[in-house]
Amino acid sequence: MQLTSPFTPDMIHNLTLSVYEDAVKLRRLFHENPELGFEEHHTSSVVEKYLRGLGLEIITGIAKTGVVGILRGQKNGPVIAFRADMDALPIQEETGAAFSSKNPNVMHACGHDIHTAMLLGAAKALSQVKDQIAGTIKFIFQPAEEMLAGGKHMVQDGVLQNPDVNYIYGFHVWPDLPLGQIGFKSGPLMASMDSFEVTLKGKSGHGAAPQQGIDAIVGGSHIITGLQSIISRETDPVDSVVLTIGTLSAGSGFNIIPEKAVLNGTIRTIKDDTRQRVAKDFTRIIEGMGAALRLDPDIHYQFGYPVTNNTKEHVDHASQLAESLFGEEAIVQLENPSMASEDFSFYLEHIPGAFLFLGVQDQAGGAYKLHNEKFLPDECVMKYGISLYIALAVYHFKMSQ
Ligand code: NI
Repeated sequence: MQLTSPFTPDMIHNLTLSVYEDAVKLRRLFHENPELGFEEHHTSSVVEKYLRGLGLEIITGIAKTGVVGILRGQKNGPVIAFRADMDALPIQEETGAAFSSKNPNVMHACGHDIHTAMLLGAAKALSQVKDQIAGTIKFIFQPAEEMLAGGKHMVQDGVLQNPDVNYIYGFHVWPDLPLGQIGFKSGPLMASMDSFEVTLKGKSGHGAAPQQGIDAIVGGSHIITGLQSIISRETDPVDSVVLTIGTLSAGSGFNIIPEKAVLNGTIRTIKDDTRQRVAKDFTRIIEGMGAALRLDPDIHYQFGYPVTNNTKEHVDHASQLAESLFGEEAIVQLENPSMASEDFSFYLEHIPGAFLFLGVQDQAGGAYKLHNEKFLPDECVMKYGISLYIALAVYHFKMSQ
């Protein structure tokens, strides 16, 4: 795929540079004023004001704090959506940056400040070439990606309709890849994320008379071990599943048989049929082992984020465009999915598209990981993101000659 006149790679890079200063200012402003999921009032008002300034149609109040800017080209054509997330995390920042968080215990530690600023930059760049756009772009700024499924609420509130979106793209900064490289993968890119809370009820008793009670800790321990056989004995070894028990609470004293044990945890898969099967296996093992060990289980299983499934066609478009913009060395075809999850998956359940990873590891290889209190990726990654957004629009709207 070639980017040709008038939208040559050089022209796209220049267009990006013309908005980069805005993107940097916005990124620092967002970083300094992080907000948790569904509380992104300041962030979404900045986004709204900026998009209004560009002359876009605006929808606000979608999924509470979500904002959508609609850019209609001069001619009819497809509708593409670009999506950024706006929420921060409950972490006390320790980056030492001049624009560090002013809000105690809230921090942009997942790069969503960059995602939002980068997409605003792309909106500005594309509104400057609006005359040449044959189609419509929806710039989606969603709340609450972290744990609260803001993407699901955006979809439920109709973000993919009116006008109906044909394709969607989104980017995430990615500290496992060097700055300047972009990670691509068709099919499953990120895992599903489900969670559970299980209460195992036994019977309390004196620690010296176990026969008089039903020990929830011993029974719970067997069940915890038994659950791992879902992975080791019931799942295809070349498929991937994670089953993590993150908390186990039980007992009130060293010489008391505990009456109950409560387990919390998460299950991750990369195939939807595996996901459904594991949920059933999970219940079967707990109920069966619970009965065998005289424990009465109460299982709350919550389906969370689905698998993030990229469509091959759109991953290929994006990687070819990235190659013409940044050269072959910028392209990384990822072999394996990440077992982390992402609520971009809710959009991809309805329409085709691609989620991509923008490398942010510095030259020394020392980038802090996502959700770390020192995570501070180089903001120049936004140049890659903005250029790629422009190129995707150019491609889908056939703007090159
Ligand atoms: Ni994130």
